[in-house]
Parts: sequence; structure tokens; C-alpha cells
Amino acid sequence: MDSMTFILFGATGDLAKRKIFPALYNLFLDKKLPSSFSIVGTGRSNLSDDAFQIYVEESVKTFSRRFSQGESKIKEFLKTVRYHKMDVTNSDGYDQLLHAIQEGEAELNIPENRLFYLSVAPEFVDVIASNINSGGLGSTKGWKRLIIEKPFGHDLQSAQVLNQKLTETFNEEEIYRIDHYLGKPMIQNLEALASANPILQALWNHHYVANVQITASETVGVEERAHYYDQSGAIRDMFQNHMLQMLMMTAMQLPKTLNIAKTRQQKIKIMKSLRPLQKEFIHSNVIRGQYEAGKIQNRSVIGYKDEPDINAASVNDTFIAVRVWIDHELWKGVPFYLRTGKRMSKKCTRIVIEFKHPLKDVYTDEEVIPNLLVVEISPNEGISLQLNSKNPLNDNKIEPIFINFSTNQKEVPEAYELLLFDALQGDSTFFAHWEEVELSWKWVQPILEVFNDERFPLHFYPAGTMGPAASNHLLEDDGFKWW
Ligand code: BG6
Repeated sequence: MDSMTFILFGATGDLAKRKIFPALYNLFLDKKLPSSFSIVGTGRSNLSDDAFQIYVEESVKTFSRRFSQGESKIKEFLKTVRYHKMDVTNSDGYDQLLHAIQEGEAELNIPENRLFYLSVAPEFVDVIASNINSGGLGSTKGWKRLIIEKPFGHDLQSAQVLNQKLTETFNEEEIYRIDHYLGKPMIQNLEALASANPILQALWNHHYVANVQITASETVGVEERAHYYDQSGAIRDMFQNHMLQMLMMTAMQLPKTLNIAKTRQQKIKIMKSLRPLQKEFIHSNVIRGQYEAGKIQNRSVIGYKDEPDINAASVNDTFIAVRVWIDHELWKGVPFYLRTGKRMSKKCTRIVIEFKHPLKDVYTDEEVIPNLLVVEISPNEGISLQLNSKNPLNDNKIEPIFINFSTNQKEVPEAYELLLFDALQGDSTFFAHWEEVELSWKWVQPILEVFNDERFPLHFYPAGTMGPAASNHLLEDDGFKWW
């Protein structure tokens, strides 16, 4: 792997503390960082290098799953870390930052390979990118890369404007848009699951699949993000990015040879085949919901409108369920149901593939349930296949049996670890390409517009449930139920 400087904007922010430093440290323990590696953290706080190193150590201690195993290594890791105080909106400060980076490069004999990670509020992203350009930080003799976090725009138009600005400084190949769901090991595994198992590959199509259900339910509420969330809702916060990415990863046809360009083409093909929801069909295919007070695991929680800093008249969506069709030869007539929401009864991200069920007419006096392939993404990671089998201990009645595999959570690398490692190596397979992002916004845009109309139904659901009853009707209409 090339030696490089990792320049982190927003180094004293929450994401850096919880995810980025712990992930870098875990990679360090696994010897997956380049031999010459320098981290320059920037932020507004006035910190010395020593004080910043203490801050990073604290973050690693608290959030790295590996800290106790690598306790003796932390000092060595911290040697790579330095701090540079700056106001990212002031273009004058970038000269000094460049100077600090060059000093480190000279000292450690690092070629001018620079990875810029923008872990900052969305309004600073384009400012920083253009200052990287005008300040000369991007004119390197080596390579440059940019990692950015979501949200990528607020709607189609703002996403296009942002992308236009970024591409003034970085080429598409240099931009790594993080969608952390693409870093989840079981999402990355979907490709292998279908390609390395001919029996599954043979079934992964409309001849055998009755429907596909993708759920990402959370028990948390709006937390301390009222300002952002009340403007975004589940549709922008989860659906436009994570849910549609999971849909692409599940539905894509496997390329004959696995490589970045081919995988991407297949994902894009799915997005292009996603049947557009004309306004008149949104009512029958999209359910928006908002949580009311309720109980989650015996703990009473307040309703969305009573959350601090939420407008008491807010019609924001904290839940969304959508039925979509993919006009692609693989998925002719197969409905895909997607749902995500806050304050639901459990934290669970899973994909359920329900297979067609012709045998229900053969076994008329017994309840034979359909075969299901369940991919558990989080918090548990695993796969289970539900089959039917006679039970000799119960009068040979047919009962469901489960073939289960689950991973040992502690040993599985986290999404950020996998994604950072890929970005360090220049592998963008599991990052969102602009075309995917733009197509997702295009698809979602009519729904955003309909949500602006206050007459569009907002279904309330008590916290601690799996969302409004209306979302069950989406499936019941087609003779199915959520699994
Ligand atoms: C983030 C959303 O992208 O994903 C959050 O902004 C959400 O609102 C989070 O809670 C869920 O991620 P995970 O990995 O906990 O499922």
C-alpha cells in the first residue's frame, strides 16, 4: 500500500471519535496501514499535538473493540497523529495546513499522496473542497483522494450542485462517498453469497422468488439531531441512501467477472430499472409514519413531536415503507418491500427473500410456510435458511427447520474499518458512485414533493411497534406479510 498523509477535517467531531480513530487503530493493529503513514487532524479547537493525542487515545480506549488486545501498541499508533488548528471557511489557513502536511511528508519521506477525509457538517463540504484546490493542497505529485460522508445533498438539485462543485477539484475516481451500510460485512457478502453458491444463484430470480423484504428498524429516536432530522426524515436519512443501496446490492445481476466497473454497472442497471413512482401511484405504494409515545423494552418514551427542538406541528416522517418493482428480466413481477423507521420495537437490519410457495395447495391440511432466506445484517450477522421438514416427535407433521450461520460479532471488523481500508488502497467498490447517488435522488424526488403536500397521509405508530398498520397492508394486498 502506498505511503500517504491522511488529512482529517472535523477531527474533534463525534464521528471521528466514535468511528474513524478506532477504525484506523484497528487497521494499525492488523498491520493494514502503510509503513509511512501520517494523520493530520484539523479542527477549530486550540489543541497541541500532545493534547490531541490524548484525545485520540481516549476515543480508541472507549470505542475500539480491540483496545485491550493492543494496549501496548497505542503509543506507537499515536506517533502518527498530529493536529492543526484551523477555520475551514477561511481560505488563508490552507497555506499553513499545506505547510504542515509538507513538513510531515519531508520528515517521514512520504510521497505526496494525500487522502482528505471530510467528517464535517454538510455546509462545509464544498467550501473545503474548493479551498483544497485553491490552497494548492490538491496539486500533488502523487495521488489525491476525497472521502465524504452523507448527506450528499438534500434533494436532486442540491446533490447535482454539490457534485458539480466537488468535480472542480476531484475526478469521480478520486471521490469516495461513504454509505456505511456498504461497509457492513453481510452487505459485502451478498455478492459472494449469490456468486459462490450456484444453488442460490439458480434461485435468485423471478422464477423462484415471491418477494423481497428489506427492513432497517431502529429503537433510537431522533436523539440530539433534531435540527437535521426534522428537515430530512427517514426518506432522506435512510431511504435515499442506505435502503436503496441495499436494494441494489440484493437485486443486481452478478457480473461474469467480479470487478469494480462491472459491479457498478450492474447496480446502476437496477437503479435504472426501478419503476418510477408517478405521483398518482405514490399513495398506494408509499407509507409515511411518525412515532408517538410508547414503550420500548419496558421503557416509556415520548412521541416525536414532544422531542426537544422538534416543531410540535411537524409532519416529518420517522418511518417509511415502500413497495417497488424492478423492470429487469430477473425480477419480473417480484415486489420488493422496503421499510425503515425510528423508535420501532427492535434494532434490526435484515433482508428476507421469500420463495414461491406452490406446495400450499398440496399440503392442504397442514400449514406449510414458504422457504425463506434471511440475511441478518445487524446487530446480528448471519444467514438462515428456513425449510420444511417432518417432525417424527410430532406425528410426522411438517414443521419449519432453520439452517443457521452466525458470525462472532467481536471478531468481525466494523463497517468503517472495511471502508477505510478500501479507500486507503484505492478500491471504491463499496462506495457510492455519483451515478448511483443521482439516480437514487431522481427516483426519490417525486416522493419528496408529495411529502411536501400536507394532505399526504401521515400514519402515527406507537413507539415500540413495527410501524403503522398501513405498512402491513402494502404486503397484504399482494397476499404476503412482513417476516
Ligand atoms: C445513519 C443515520 O446514516 O444511520 C442514522 O443518519 C441512523 O439516523 C444510522 O441511526 C443507522 O446506522 P446503523 O449502522 O446503526 O444501522
